[in-house]
Amino acid sequence: MGAFLKIVIASICVGYVAVKWNRPSFDPESLRGARVLVTGASSGIGEQMAYHYARFGAQIVITARREKVLQQVTEKCLSLGAQKALFISGDMSTESDPDKVVDFALEKLGGLDYLVLNHIGVTRFAMWDGDVDHVKWLMKPNFFSYIQMAWRALPSLEKSKGSMVIVSSMAGKLSNPFTAPYCSTKSALNGFFGALSHELAMKKSNVSTSLITLGLIDTESALNAVRGIITTPAYPATEAALNIIVTGATRQLELYYPWYTYVMNFFKDWYPPLTNHLIQNALNYDP
Ligand SMILES: NC(=O)c1ccc[n+]([C@@H]2O[C@H](COP(=O)([O-])OP(=O)(O)OC[C@H]3O[C@@H](n4cnc5c(N)ncnc54)[C@H](OP(=O)(O)O)[C@@H]3O)[C@@H](O)[C@H]2O)c1
Repeated sequence: MGAFLKIVIASICVGYVAVKWNRPSFDPESLRGARVLVTGASSGIGEQMAYHYARFGAQIVITARREKVLQQVTEKCLSLGAQKALFISGDMSTESDPDKVVDFALEKLGGLDYLVLNHIGVTRFAMWDGDVDHVKWLMKPNFFSYIQMAWRALPSLEKSKGSMVIVSSMAGKLSNPFTAPYCSTKSALNGFFGALSHELAMKKSNVSTSLITLGLIDTESALNAVRGIITTPAYPATEAALNIIVTGATRQLELYYPWYTYVMNFFKDWYPPLTNHLIQNALNYDP
């Protein structure tokens, strides 16, 4: 390894440790009684977030489409220590359900301290086949419902000095093959909430925004999608969920989880041929 590369790697490590070191400290007590809405909480990372919030003694409303599963998650949240746990089913690809869900949470909890937007619509992990209608549809659950819910919850979050947590992906920072529709929706999220976060800061708003950049996480849906195509290790959903919650509770602007997402993001503009090579060779593809 050349001396220059060693220096670059060492600098990144030092930068990463410095960022971690300077993280504001997390007080678990700050979440006791906190009023939280988590979307996409019937499975995966959203479900794990619901359980963590429950252990911290929060009051939670969860949502997704499958009512029976939501009921089971809610029961488990209560057994883990949630002060309140309620669910409402909703389809975030419709016009009306995003508002309906936020209104339910505002009414049942008497306001919101955290809005955690995490759901995604179902999409294929495959080369794009020209289906423009699918991209148009996917924008509804993955993007339009996010901005609709954020706007609806904003007045309450303003009152409570609350936080919005937007679960995005490395795919929103760096385009990946096999995920063109998904990448588009996550890039749209990053663009919109990046701009909103500036505007809130300029208006001296009480509301913080946290944009979450995730790499591959071991949820059932993700592992099923990439099986046989991607061999990089998947990180645990429960740990990802806890990191997301801490980021929101400490009002940090961004989270990169796991660590390599930070490094990839750093390198992408610095030396694109390297990231392009890594991305294309991380996939098992034989044309
Ligand atoms: N897992 C990863 O590797 C990974 C990597 C990067 C980023 N992320 C991000 O992390 C978040 C969670 O991912 P995950 O892997 O935990 O996903 P997941 O396990 O597939 O969960 C998706 C959730 O969204 C709900 N959902 C699906 N379609 C919906 C619709 N039309 N309306 C309302 N809810 C809907 C699902 O429940 P129902 O089926 O009951 O509706 C489920 O609760 C996503 O924003 C994803 O982009 C994940």
